[in-house]
Amino acid sequence: MKVLNLCAGIGGNSHKWENCEVTAVENDPKIAGIYQKLNPTHTVVIADAYEYFKDNHQNFEFAWWSPPCQKHSKMMKATRHKVADYPDFKLYEVIVFCQHFYKGKWIVENVMPYYQPLIHPTKKIGRHLFWSNFEIEADEVKQPKGFITKSSLQGKKDMMEWLGLHFNEVVYYKKNHCPVQILRNCVHPDLGKQIFDSFIKNINNDKNKIQSLGC
Ligand SMILES: C[S@@+](CC[C@H](N)C(=O)[O-])C[C@H]1O[C@@H](n2cnc3c(N)ncnc32)[C@H](O)[C@@H]1O
Repeated sequence: MKVLNLCAGIGGNSHKWENCEVTAVENDPKIAGIYQKLNPTHTVVIADAYEYFKDNHQNFEFAWWSPPCQKHSKMMKATRHKVADYPDFKLYEVIVFCQHFYKGKWIVENVMPYYQPLIHPTKKIGRHLFWSNFEIEADEVKQPKGFITKSSLQGKKDMMEWLGLHFNEVVYYKKNHCPVQILRNCVHPDLGKQIFDSFIKNINNDKNKIQSLGC
């Protein structure tokens, strides 16, 4: 089964997916490099995920989207964050595209925003909001103490331990000079697996329904 991981980061969400061919799309070559080392069997494409999905969505049965969350995060309103900026509504472009044009099962992940979400989410788990066209059965994986404030190399080690994802490189996310940010961006692999398993359960249920109707 061919599945997509879009705005893939280092692939926390997809690290424990099984019995599928994963194509991951990430536009930052350094982050994509770490993804490939951590997930050697996945195909990693360095490209714009929005364009890639528009052109290739029909070739995949499942798509997971994790558009960047920084411009939606409550941190935008934190006092130390002094720059007023627009939220990035590509998040909603993706949800509407999936709702109307994508025939596969899909899930879009983001954070709890500082404003009322423009499209009502399907599920909230821990700090994540999800929009999807299948039922998600998953429990929160508790995050470690000081999750938001960890910013040192020791913090990087702690986060790698929590996620079970280990690499030596120090890679910064955009202009953020924090070695922990690309790890903080991750969905925990155990949560990613539970959600992927919900998708598998959902398609199996669909197949059983079709069989019982004798189609
Ligand atoms: C929230 S992180 C993804 C985290 C990932 N789901 C995980 O669990 O590890 C979002 C990622 O999207 C990437 N990104 C941002 N804009 C992109 C674009 N237009 N095309 C592809 N990737 C993009 C960023 O570099 C970042 O690594």
